Amino acid sequence: MPAHRIAVIAGDGIGNEVMPEGLRVVEAAARRFNIDLQFTTMAWANCDYYLEHGQMMPSDWFAQLKDFDAIYFGAVGWPDKVPDHISLWGSLLKFRREFDEYVNLRPVRLMPGVPCPLANKKPGDIDFYVVRENTEGEYSSVGGRMFEGTERETVLQESVFTRKGVDRILKYAFELAQSRPKKHLTSATKSNGIAISMPFWDERVEAMGPSFPDVRWDKYHIDILAARFVLSPERFDVVVASNLFGDILSDLGPACTGTIAIAPSANINPERTFPSVFEPVHGSAPDIYGQNIANPIGMIWSGAMMLDFLGNGDARYTAAHDAIVRAIEQVLEHGPRTPDMGGSASTTEVGMAVAELLK
Ligand code: NAD
Ligand code: IPM
Ligand code: MN
Repeated sequence: MPAHRIAVIAGDGIGNEVMPEGLRVVEAAARRFNIDLQFTTMAWANCDYYLEHGQMMPSDWFAQLKDFDAIYFGAVGWPDKVPDHISLWGSLLKFRREFDEYVNLRPVRLMPGVPCPLANKKPGDIDFYVVRENTEGEYSSVGGRMFEGTERETVLQESVFTRKGVDRILKYAFELAQSRPKKHLTSATKSNGIAISMPFWDERVEAMGPSFPDVRWDKYHIDILAARFVLSPERFDVVVASNLFGDILSDLGPACTGTIAIAPSANINPERTFPSVFEPVHGSAPDIYGQNIANPIGMIWSGAMMLDFLGNGDARYTAAHDAIVRAIEQVLEHGPRTPDMGGSASTTEVGMAVAELLK
């Protein structure tokens, strides 16, 4: 294959600390498995760029990025400098929308060596995917604000659920479930309370079910589903959810497996018309930035997902992905560990330890 072109956007805060470790490990894996990668660093999509230019990205960001094969992304947001809705809608959420990355794939896995906050769980017990709809739903820009500053102040924000948008995320989730041994899909709903969009979501699940006769599926209202994540996470295999429900479940899931700092994610445009974005689930963590103590595992694992995606089924890339995940498991089990996991190692030490195992 020709070199894969990857745009690198570190963003804000610890995005800048974990990105070098992600790159270190992805480059080590690429060397070992003879994969040709070409990285281009973008110095924008961060809050300092905004303070200087009045926007998060240059006006031609779409043209600059659209021909890359992937975007490796750290985290954006520094609420003391720029309000979060401005920094995020000016960068990450634009990518998801404009590059039609309608799948947000977020593995939830209890890894060896990571203390589980739930009683009596061991690695292997928790191993599922959250498949989050990533371009519509509750994350809409339809709405408005009226009578601002008066007692009549009224704020409306619509949710948008299109048949195409719902069907394509459900299809991805059914297919993923079909490819896994348990072949089990859970749909997150709330059709008892959100009585227009969620019954529609349920209808579309019902309509698709018969096309996947080997997939067992069920549905739970989001409130009890959240409780079940905590009480019986071992029963999940693939969980499909709207944008907001998926956002919440994909922090809750990793929290149930010990720490959100190791959780990876892939914002995928399955048609490959546009680049997909690979980023950790966590944010820019202003509270720990500047100390080189952020856990780089979420960034590194996202890099493994990126290689797997770039290979599109090629065995060498799958092997590179698997080798990174195995190296992560070894480091989680035997150290070094960053302070969030009870250790005292630096971001760099953890990144180097993972990279060392890929030599
Ligand atoms: P956060 O994920 O940045 O931090 C939550 C908590 O987890 C903090 O205590 C932090 O120190 C800890 N944490 C997160 N990542 C860690 C890591 N790798 N190692 C060790 N500890 C880690 O969430 P937040 O505080 O709600 O948000 C901070 C900023 O990040 C906000 O601007 C928010 O909008 C943004 N954010 C961005 C993304 C993204 O770019 N994808 C995701 C979530 C939040
Ligand atoms: C995530 C983040 C983003 C989201 C924020 C930062 C807009 O929480 O990637 O999960 O809500 O999608
Ligand atoms: Mn989130």
